[in-house]
Amino acid sequence: MTLAFLLYFRKTVEICRQIEKSGATFLTIHARTPEKSTGDINKEVLKLIKDNINIPLVANGGVKNLTDCYELKELTGCDGVMVANAILQNPTIFSGRTETSYECVQHWVDICFNTSISPKNYKLFSNGKSQLTIPERPTNLTFQCFHHHLVFMLEKILPKKKRRIFNNFKRFHEVLEFLKEEMNIVPNLYNVDSFRNRTPLCLDYDDLVVVDDDFVSSNYNSSNSNGKYFSKILDCDEKHSDETDCDWSNMFLEND
Ligand SMILES: Cc1cc2nc3c(=O)[nH]c(=O)nc-3n(C[C@H](O)[C@H](O)[C@H](O)COP(=O)(O)O)c2cc1C
Repeated sequence: MTLAFLLYFRKTVEICRQIEKSGATFLTIHARTPEKSTGDINKEVLKLIKDNINIPLVANGGVKNLTDCYELKELTGCDGVMVANAILQNPTIFSGRTETSYECVQHWVDICFNTSISPKNYKLFSNGKSQLTIPERPTNLTFQCFHHHLVFMLEKILPKKKRRIFNNFKRFHEVLEFLKEEMNIVPNLYNVDSFRNRTPLCLDYDDLVVVDDDFVSSNYNSSNSNGKYFSKILDCDEKHSDETDCDWSNMFLEND
């Protein structure tokens, strides 16, 4: 058993060294075997890899907060940490916060509702003045993208009963009404100047162009299905109230 483990470690290190020799500039390693997709990661093997390669190592797997990141660095010597699941739940994880702040939710809503600025966003009053108004739905963004990220972010903030209601929303206005009522969050609309100042957040929209009456145009297509990952999250949420320790082993397999 021990021998098998050592051989397996050696093989892993060998592969990493070969990848380095073939010109990789850094390596990111998820420290679990394909058979073991949840639970503790193998920090020993990460340390072994780190000690045997010369390019930076980014460690991945099971990190839930900033303390975990520092611990991983200390135990393995890794140069960076990659986080997937936990950052969906709490995008502020690297700031040290343990749960998503209202400010972060507000920020996400603002980003979503300011992907473009259109004259349609301005309501013209009889005195000739115009005012920005919240559009029914953001431009260049699917409901799915808007809603899924909020579902992740609110997972630890909302009590289960409210989460169930929120997770089942299908329309922008349902989400907006909920956010306003429960969290006092409404989209802050940018005017043209603030929109231009925020463009670093819109990295996908580098080529800022005026198309018809919209400032930004982009083709974003996505299917309307929830997808395997999101469906599994909802399923897990139904079963476990606190931790989501789901089995993700089939997540990237096609056709199942
Ligand atoms: C939404 C999402 C999408 C992912 N997409 C991929 C992918 O396309 N290919 C891949 O190899 N891993 C993918 N992963 C796996 C992550 O890279 C990571 O290895 C895994 O989630 C374990 O890290 P974590 O514990 O920080 O979540 C994805 C993970 C998540 C949460």
